[in-house]
Amino acid sequence: MSESSASINESSANEPPLANREQWSSRLVFILAATGSAVGLGNIWKFPYITGENGGGAFVLIYLFCIASIGIPIMMAEIMLGRRGRQDPVTTMKKLAKESGHSRSWGLLGWMGVIAGFLILSYYSVIAGWAMAYVPRMATGLFNGLEADGVNTVFSDLVSNPEGLIAWHTLFLFMTMAVVARGVRGGLEKAVTFLMPLLFILLVILIFYAMGTGHFKQGLTYLFTPDFSKITTEGILSAMGHAFFTLSLGMGAIMVYGSYLPSNTSIAKATIAVAFMDTLVALMAGMIIFPIVFANTLEPSAGPGLIFKTLPLAFGHMDYGTFFGTLFFILLVFAAWTSSISLIEPAITWGMKTFQISRLKTSFISGVLVWLLGLLTVFSFNLTSDFTITSTISTNYGEFVILKDATVFDFLDYLTSNIMLPLGGLMIAIYAGWLMKKKYSREELNINRFWYTIWLFLVRFIAPTMVIIVFLNAMGVVAFIRTIMGV
Ligand code: TRP
Repeated sequence: MSESSASINESSANEPPLANREQWSSRLVFILAATGSAVGLGNIWKFPYITGENGGGAFVLIYLFCIASIGIPIMMAEIMLGRRGRQDPVTTMKKLAKESGHSRSWGLLGWMGVIAGFLILSYYSVIAGWAMAYVPRMATGLFNGLEADGVNTVFSDLVSNPEGLIAWHTLFLFMTMAVVARGVRGGLEKAVTFLMPLLFILLVILIFYAMGTGHFKQGLTYLFTPDFSKITTEGILSAMGHAFFTLSLGMGAIMVYGSYLPSNTSIAKATIAVAFMDTLVALMAGMIIFPIVFANTLEPSAGPGLIFKTLPLAFGHMDYGTFFGTLFFILLVFAAWTSSISLIEPAITWGMKTFQISRLKTSFISGVLVWLLGLLTVFSFNLTSDFTITSTISTNYGEFVILKDATVFDFLDYLTSNIMLPLGGLMIAIYAGWLMKKKYSREELNINRFWYTIWLFLVRFIAPTMVIIVFLNAMGVVAFIRTIMGV
């Protein structure tokens, strides 16, 4: 053990000794768990639909750029902070700030993460409910031979019925809280070990199907040929927000997972492995969905229903489609499950410590809160679908649209992915790059001087600058300055 954990033990007389704290059993398990958190609805549901809404290739390119230049360095920073603090995000930040002689207000970063986790899980659970609802629909062959219209009707029938959505949301949330209540090590490790590879195999099978649609090339062109005329400032903001969302960054989830990481594991290698797999799954999902979209003259910009309107078409027309389709949605639910657990884990560790109550009780209370919040999302697809928010900033230099006809679900998604996560990531980068003593970050990361310098440069300069520019850009500030300066 390095001296870092020894000093942690000393400084925390009132905290449980490290030896009693759960740890992952190996580096591989950590990678699997972090991949389980990263790979989820974000990759298979959200990535294709926001790519479709933002016109394809250029959006994908910006997203990939954000993963490499912001996502990877911040992920290393977040895991590092977690492992050094070995507590819930709020306590970790307070403790590290104290260790390096800074204000305890850094605990606020942890707080924001706890809240973001609640908000994200509230809609995540509803969407995962859609995926669950598709399992019996696939298994009974409902989609066999259906054309686009028929599939669309199945989807709109599903989302227009609040009772049904609530039932599935309840079931999914119950599954999540049941695992969380037993502790992350319990079932979670085992579930990811064989389900993730299985999901991967199924995606490969679907790619073969997509190749047979006759529109594979068109799909690839859409995904990989950038057309920057289609990119808006909001598009850039969502690409960046999605980089945080898909890697589970900026709210303490990966920090908590890092806190269970044994001291001798390489953070850099683990990060690269997770980011690589996560990106691969997203791109595969895109390569499956867009050929199907074009083959059936569907709209890439169909929104949150995109995969639910395209994939059943594929399964409905392919050999053994009932079997593969059922399996696919089951695996999607599992992918969402291993992610949802990490969304609430920061809140659980924090709640247990703050209120000194058991994991079970904390899980129960959090579950009830998230369930209630989730109703907002449920209703935004039916009862309150007409209630929308539009928010623009108008300056002498033009109108800047922040939100357009956004339902409550759109608003929650925007607030969390595009604002809270990048803000959390920004603070993590600033803390790890500027405020934490270099001695500590070098010791934790344990990489050679060359890579350490690159990492430091990225978290100090590149990641924060990019986040700030993208924020300002979305608020129209950059356009404003450019106009004034005449450039
Ligand atoms: N990354 C997950 C996905 O892509 C979602 C997720 C899990 C998440 N934990 C998170 C998003 C923490 C943001 C923060 O589906």
